[in-house]
Amino acid sequence: MTNDIHLMDKNYISPALAIISDAVIIVGSTGVLIWFNVWIALAMIVTSAFILIIPKLFGKKLSSTRGHYSQALSELTMRLKDIFLGYEIIKSYYMDKFTIKKFQLINKEVEDTNFKALETISRSSALASYLSIMTQAVSIGLGGYFVIKGQLSIGALFAIVQLGESLGEPIMMIIDKINVLKSMTEIKNHLVEFMDIPDIEATRHKQLSRVKEDITLENVNFAYEEDKNVLNDLSITFEKNKKYAIVGSSGSGKSTLLKLILDEYMPQEGKVMIDHQSVSEVTRQSLYEQVGIIQQNVYLFDTSLKENITLGRTLKAEVLEESLKQSGVAEFATSMQLDLDAPLGENGNKLSGGQKQRIAIARALVQKKPILLLDEYTSSLDQKIASEIENIVLKLEDVTIISVTHKLLPNILKQYDEIIVMEKGSIREKGSFEDLMKNQSAFYNLYYAEGITDCEERDENIEAM
Ligand SMILES: Nc1ncnc2c1ncn2[C@@H]1O[C@H](COP(=O)(O)OP(=O)(O)OP(=O)(O)O)[C@@H](O)[C@H]1O
Ligand SMILES: [Mg+2]
Repeated sequence: MTNDIHLMDKNYISPALAIISDAVIIVGSTGVLIWFNVWIALAMIVTSAFILIIPKLFGKKLSSTRGHYSQALSELTMRLKDIFLGYEIIKSYYMDKFTIKKFQLINKEVEDTNFKALETISRSSALASYLSIMTQAVSIGLGGYFVIKGQLSIGALFAIVQLGESLGEPIMMIIDKINVLKSMTEIKNHLVEFMDIPDIEATRHKQLSRVKEDITLENVNFAYEEDKNVLNDLSITFEKNKKYAIVGSSGSGKSTLLKLILDEYMPQEGKVMIDHQSVSEVTRQSLYEQVGIIQQNVYLFDTSLKENITLGRTLKAEVLEESLKQSGVAEFATSMQLDLDAPLGENGNKLSGGQKQRIAIARALVQKKPILLLDEYTSSLDQKIASEIENIVLKLEDVTIISVTHKLLPNILKQYDEIIVMEKGSIREKGSFEDLMKNQSAFYNLYYAEGITDCEERDENIEAM
């Protein structure tokens, strides 16, 4: 889009406006020519009319060559982005040669497609120049004839020749510009498609008020791609202020479930509701005021610690202080002598994973959202810090927590009101840690498959129940 918008600015908006001034010159010159000599004027108009067929001749080719160029340019941008983001891997796995080769291929493609596009434009503009010179030749020839016959003065001939230039020139320029405009057809249609995407927020008028009851999924069927169901007839209720853990093997649909609650996707069948209102019917703003998410990768803006927590809101000093304390940010900030107003650097690269995660929690705390969705938010942390952070979050009152986790730590899992085990897009089992261990079914198997295979530890765990 960035490339296409730049191309549109240069090759559509500017030429389209310049056509107006060319048109004014053409109309003016034609008027004066007719006043001097109708026959010469007519002959010149007929000759220059030939120029008008040029856009017809070249239009399609111009549009497709420019389209190919735009496509190649967008691939080049994507490759560059890929190279910059994957720079560490490229270097540490000696991918240099391979990466350069791939880059050169797409770079060559950009060069070739641009050459083809410019070649087509040059051909059509050469033909337009030729026809414009023909128009001037006609004016000189016919003008000379009328001078010899004594029907035109030398002065008028000079004027006509001059006018011929100011008629031929702008006609040629207009054709050039029409060609350039035509070359943008594919790109313009592509951009218009984006502009036609409706603004979802404008179609929603209902507000979700402060959550009073529960989050309910009712017979939800969902697929990202046709015929590949990710969630199958899933029904579940998350009661207000309770803490839920969602566990299950990779790809079982845990993150997808959270995405549906956030209305990032709509289910093909069934309903996702908060307090009996479908999340797809309320405004996004009112939904996001109620529901927050913390993920494994925390994004930190290149600004101060304080702004990274308040996210631009004005907060009472006590609220900020309390959240800093609760989340454990205060602790590390003091020991690092990190001032609240000190910049954190690009994506907080001066901080460790655990410190970033604490900032994410502080963020959620100050917003005082009644529902917190957590997606493997402690999986990049070591067990000690993960447990500390989980303990902070699980002690939060007045917050409904739905936490997707792979870390099956008994002392943490016991604090959840309910553990939900997902399998292939359905709920396989649910209950408290103790109940599920006693059942010796899906959760039990998952629990021991996750590496806690030490027999003594297993016995200790069972005894501890
Ligand atoms: N954007 C997407 N487009 C197409 N398929 C997707 C998309 N996101 C996820 N999937 C597919 O949906 C299924 C469920 O994915 P999901 O991310 O919900 O799994 P998960 O249970 O969170 O797994 P993990 O524990 O590995 O995070 C997977 O088979 C995945 O390939
Ligand atoms: Mg996931």
